[in-house]
Amino acid sequence: MSSDSDIITTMKGFQCTLCNVNLPNMPSLDQHVKGRKHKTLSTVRNTRKTQEEHSVFVSGIKPEISQTDISEYFERFGPVSDVIMDKDKGVYAIVQFSGSESIQAALSCVEHRMKGLQLRVKPREKKEFKLIPKNKNDPQNLQRVLDHLKPELCQLVSVNAQIHYIVERFQLGENEKKARGLLVQLLQEVFVEFFPDSQILAFGSSVNTFGIHSCDLDLFLDLENTKVFQSRAKTTTEQAKEGMSDDGQSEDSILSDIDLTTASPAEILDLVATILKRCVPSVHKVHVVSSARLPVVKFHHRELNLQGDISINNRLAVRNTRFLQLCSGMEGRLRPLVYTIRYWAKQKQLAGNPSGSGPLLNNYALTLLILFFLQNCEPPVFLTVDQLKEMACEEEECVIEGWNCTFPSQPIAVPPSKNMQDLCTLLAGFFSFYSKFDFAGSVISLREGRALPITDFLSQNKDDEVMDENQPTKTNQQRPKLGPLNLLDPFELSHNVAGNLNERSQRSFQRECQEAEKYCRSLQYQRKSNKGKSWGLVRLFTPQGQVLQTKTEQLTVSIPFKLASIPEGLRNQLHKAGDGFRLLWFQKVCSAVEGVLKTILNCHLTPSTAFKEDSAVAAEELETTAASLESSTNDSFESVESNTESSSLGTVAVGHKRQLSSDSDASVSPQGKKPRLARKGKSEFPQWICVLKHIVWAGRRKVRRELIKDTDSRPEGSCMELESQVTAYITEKEPELKDPLEFKVQSQMVGGTESTRAEFRFEPTSDKVGVFHDVFHFLEAFLPKMVETLLRREVGNA
Ligand code: UTP
Repeated sequence: MSSDSDIITTMKGFQCTLCNVNLPNMPSLDQHVKGRKHKTLSTVRNTRKTQEEHSVFVSGIKPEISQTDISEYFERFGPVSDVIMDKDKGVYAIVQFSGSESIQAALSCVEHRMKGLQLRVKPREKKEFKLIPKNKNDPQNLQRVLDHLKPELCQLVSVNAQIHYIVERFQLGENEKKARGLLVQLLQEVFVEFFPDSQILAFGSSVNTFGIHSCDLDLFLDLENTKVFQSRAKTTTEQAKEGMSDDGQSEDSILSDIDLTTASPAEILDLVATILKRCVPSVHKVHVVSSARLPVVKFHHRELNLQGDISINNRLAVRNTRFLQLCSGMEGRLRPLVYTIRYWAKQKQLAGNPSGSGPLLNNYALTLLILFFLQNCEPPVFLTVDQLKEMACEEEECVIEGWNCTFPSQPIAVPPSKNMQDLCTLLAGFFSFYSKFDFAGSVISLREGRALPITDFLSQNKDDEVMDENQPTKTNQQRPKLGPLNLLDPFELSHNVAGNLNERSQRSFQRECQEAEKYCRSLQYQRKSNKGKSWGLVRLFTPQGQVLQTKTEQLTVSIPFKLASIPEGLRNQLHKAGDGFRLLWFQKVCSAVEGVLKTILNCHLTPSTAFKEDSAVAAEELETTAASLESSTNDSFESVESNTESSSLGTVAVGHKRQLSSDSDASVSPQGKKPRLARKGKSEFPQWICVLKHIVWAGRRKVRRELIKDTDSRPEGSCMELESQVTAYITEKEPELKDPLEFKVQSQMVGGTESTRAEFRFEPTSDKVGVFHDVFHFLEAFLPKMVETLLRREVGNA
């Protein structure tokens, strides 16, 4: 049974202290409490509690005393159900009785003597039941590893030295590399027996120069030559049947069972698995994972304690591994940065999906993010992949599966970078770069070395849908799957290597970058502590913890640009708006927010006209996008204006919007060159003074249920009419507030150099009854949901 005391209320919902998990709301709490984990732990705890209450602690025993001796002795106080002894030291025992009354009898006995020994008998100590996590990635385990590392790191003289130390500490040793090499050789010898002319090639961290102790061994079994061999053998056999000689290929070869050109990857991998199981010593736990993007056979090597993956369709991975090797050879600062950032990401639980799949970054994606940052340093540390391609000679040209994978084979072919920044600065630069990066509005291209606007890919996705009907698989493969973080593979341009991330993991990545960036600005990062305190990398590596929100953040409702929840019609409009998509989307959101406050929550709204002097960055963006809208997509811009004016939301046009067509002398290059700065203070974002006379934010769920009066209870924020009725109901039934609440709402558009979002800052201007924070917390959840509903509806009506 769960006890209520296991559940505590936190700022972010609830926490179950028994299972050590956070739950955002009541439904998820209910679900958790009914779930298996919680029930099992509750049962274990209850059993332990009963054991504690029925047992005594006995000390003063000697190793020669047996469990039976103890049991026999204590039986005189009542039936004994169990005796637990510390066998190693033989100094204590726990005696468990069947009934609690026996405990009293044993404890009230003045002296306990057995075989000439005087035993001490005490009540059992009551220990708090705690879940001991098994997970390697658990913060407590990560903290333990860091605790070992800490003294060594702290005594070094600089952050640069600390970074080099991380490499020394984690990199694959020479013997480890040799052992892996020998295993690859052994596998090669075995596989060639079954698949003549096949080749087994290592890729990934074992060979890309970024490997750490215990990293996986990724292998590619190249069967291209075997296919040629097989078709040749077939012809020969046919000729032999016609009386010509055999080339020695025996009839009972494994190849006679399978045609490699027509067999499915799963069939071939099954065969690979069988060979591994039967013919490679020390290999166990062999199984095929066919659900992965690229199916693999997984195995474990007992002696080397090594996890291995074999794939048969991964030529591109071998090539991109070669590319990472080249980058490492070209620039000595890359390896130390990669090791340090990979370790940071592991500590913060941002990268490395333990079971191979999951919503976190994989190490390859993280390495590409580092390379992209280095391409964007001033001056660049790395050239773009396109520039490298130009430096390759004819013999180095390489095309795999239609993708151009050309780059020079030797680092010497590439001139050294002019960037002289040290590791400490570059590391801080990485965090700073991604703390402000517009993930929502961009697609990262290492090929071009720049962030491409996401709208370039919207139309492609649309086209796909049309073309899908005719050529389902091929066209799908050619488009990247867009998500919260879009990072194109440098060669396979249709592959988003971060396509597995969800909103949450993307947000965590950026939030941790922001935290790290702040820390890197402090003296604690840059200067060794004379007092022996943690400094430099040590604090950066502290396992993931709750990031404290600042006061201003708490009073800001952020509505992120989420491609997945944007309705089709609006997507098309955004695509037409080109570079100006942010402004168009922002206007729609502002209009919807106004609709929620005014129409749904019955606020009295007055547009406020004050200029915002402090929003130069956003103003710049607005100016830029306005200009771009005007110059490049005049039609769509006009339709934006009219759409907003006559929106189905029943609201007035967005606040006191700046007349976008006037004052549009800012120019933007179609190539996306840096826009000219807007004149500070000239742009305006909608802002309103809101007055609320009723407590329309409280008890809505109950009213909603009553109004619907059926079991199909609709989730909050999913229906505009229903929510308006809820407000009307509350307004009619509940008394007015003694003093109306008055608050200011200021909108702001963020994007371009940061994640695209609309921000609404709330500030009380008159709150005599002290309800502003309740209203704010309500709006924090209600507003984004309602805006989504209204946007969908508006587009539907357009
Ligand atoms: P990993 O992400 O496992 O990287 O991808 P890693 O460097 O080997 O790190 P760990 O230590 O094993 O976690 C392994 C290889 O798979 C290819 C790349 O060649 C990468 O080096 N890969 C991975 C891709 O080609 N595309 C992907 O999206 C992911």
